[in-house]
Amino acid sequence: MAIEISDLVKVYGNVTALQGVTISIPEGDFFGLLGPNGAGKTTLIRILTTLIRPTQGSARIMGCDVVEDRALVRTKIGVVPQAMTSDLDLTARETMDIYARFYGMGRAERTERSEELLTMVGLKDRRDDLVATYSGGMRRRLEIARGLVHKPSVLILDEPTIGLDPQSRHVVWELLEKFRGADKLTILLTTHYMEEAETLCDHVAIIDYGRIAALDTVDGLKRQIPRKDVVELTISGCDASKAADLIKTNPSVTSCAVQGDTLIISAENGANAIPVFVEGLKGIGAGVTKVILKQQTLEDVFIHFTGRPIREEEAKKVSFLLGAGVPTKWGR
Ligand SMILES: Nc1ncnc2c1ncn2[C@@H]1O[C@H](COP(=O)(O)OP(=O)(O)OP(=O)(O)O)[C@@H](O)[C@H]1O
Ligand SMILES: [Mg+2]
Repeated sequence: MAIEISDLVKVYGNVTALQGVTISIPEGDFFGLLGPNGAGKTTLIRILTTLIRPTQGSARIMGCDVVEDRALVRTKIGVVPQAMTSDLDLTARETMDIYARFYGMGRAERTERSEELLTMVGLKDRRDDLVATYSGGMRRRLEIARGLVHKPSVLILDEPTIGLDPQSRHVVWELLEKFRGADKLTILLTTHYMEEAETLCDHVAIIDYGRIAALDTVDGLKRQIPRKDVVELTISGCDASKAADLIKTNPSVTSCAVQGDTLIISAENGANAIPVFVEGLKGIGAGVTKVILKQQTLEDVFIHFTGRPIREEEAKKVSFLLGAGVPTKWGR
């Protein structure tokens, strides 16, 4: 196992941020920890990256204990913290060089690795400009390159695309996929973006109130909840309520609402049901002019296991303020 987390508990004063978290992540896995604000994601990351100690339980990365073998763990992991931490007064090249020195890399190796990574993240042409002149997406890409400078086996990212525009987010996703393929990397990221977890991750754990509410592949998670797709059919040539009555007789349908000339149908397997619906409607003289199939998403899974939606926009605002870069004296 690349990461072995065993019954981890973290108490801050009267807040229990982690209430016994157990997760095993195999080598080469792309693992997502999905949860809303305050779920305990950053706390878990900070323990794994040896910044804070657990109150109880243990965690090992590539066989090294995060409390007993801190120095060793740090050589095995690359870290991209939640808050942007790249120094505005440095250039990308200087940033890479300083980090490479931390790891005791010689000059030739430092230069080679830095050039290689800055090229991969698309910053080669800007490598001698100050980070202060970069966009948020560029800073993030630099921070990912920086995290990989010493060729770690495990890359740990806390909300890597928080606050980025959709296009920059996609660029970061592509980068992570690329690095994963190139370096046989194990990747653990936290996110509150459903799409991010769904697009990137082999396995996803849903974390809520410091507990793992569910853990499986994305498809596995979807299979764990009662299957419900939504099919919207716009019809012509027949009264919509008459059409709805017919649809409701199909055993896979749990509900059918009428909105103007559109039927909004909740059904077990939308893709299979659509041809049956269309055929049936033809029988009562109705034509179908538009079909929309909304398949179950990770959002539905999240609501099933936690009883509430994740509210991404709200999360974005708060997370920026509470991100892990805030000094301790401000309460972190
Ligand atoms: N240093 C601290 N002192 C006291 N409480 C803390 C501290 N750090 C975190 N907490 C609390 O622990 C809980 C988990 O916080 P954590 O930052 O791990 O959540 P998160 O999932 O990363 O949230 P976000 O999505 O906002 O980043 C929250 O209730 C938070 O207020
Ligand atoms: Mg956090």
